[in-house]
Amino acid sequence: MAEATERGGAGPVLAVRGVRRTFEAELAPVRALRGVDLDVAPGELVAVMGPSGCGKSTLLNLVAGLDAPDEGEIAIAGEVITGRDADWLAHMRRRHVGIVFQFFNLLDGMTALENVVLPAVVGGRSSRRAAEGRARDLLDLLGLADRAGEVPAVLSGGQRQRLAIARALANEPTLLLADEPTGALDSEGGHEVLELFRRLHLDGQTIVMVTHAEEVAAGADRIVHLRDGVVESVTPGDGR
Ligand SMILES: Nc1ncnc2c1ncn2[C@@H]1O[C@H](COP(=O)(O)OP(=O)(O)OP(=O)(O)O)[C@@H](O)[C@H]1O
Ligand SMILES: [Mg+2]
Repeated sequence: MAEATERGGAGPVLAVRGVRRTFEAELAPVRALRGVDLDVAPGELVAVMGPSGCGKSTLLNLVAGLDAPDEGEIAIAGEVITGRDADWLAHMRRRHVGIVFQFFNLLDGMTALENVVLPAVVGGRSSRRAAEGRARDLLDLLGLADRAGEVPAVLSGGQRQRLAIARALANEPTLLLADEPTGALDSEGGHEVLELFRRLHLDGQTIVMVTHAEEVAAGADRIVHLRDGVVESVTPGDGR
């Protein structure tokens, strides 16, 4: 595997090699991933598509270090994350990974601003004041400046997901991961969110997005088609 590379360096931001993951189940083990390889270069937007149950979320969770493969190896920014302990992985995530889920996973008891400030403060990466400054900039960028003091419950679905994206960007992640970020949104909300991902991509953000939306996939640099736990094909998107 390549030497550690900084953000924007020459090596891949993400390297997945021969990854397998089997889950124990009542009837028979589920072989969710059966040998997956994937490289993502700096600044790429890669869409992952495939039928329900083909292993998309399993792959994303492994890349985020939230789960570990049974076989194979994953490296982020040139560092192998496979086989590391929970503390190391938590530190790696704070440094390198932002995650956006289908159902937002926001903290309902906190304001929009607090939701974005929290990861930076918890990560110990910046002072409260610096974190708040960056959070306000992100809310501004994402068109939520005037909602900073609101709690997530009063925001629309599209606004909530944009808030979740702001939170995922709070630590300036090397790699932004999204698992069906428009899956819970109506078409207008979905469109808002996709437009945002497109802008982030144009700004050079490296993104891996699981999606069922053809519209997103078409705007990606590459589309990885998963089926039954393997990469069936990789096709080019329209890119930028
Ligand atoms: N923690 C788990 N325990 C047992 N089985 C699991 C677990 N997580 C996933 N699976 C199984 O692994 C397979 C792949 O699941 P995964 O969630 O990765 O699919 P997916 O492609 O994201 O599907 P969807 O489009 O419906 O979200 C499925 O058969 C699922 O039931
Ligand atoms: Mg899924």
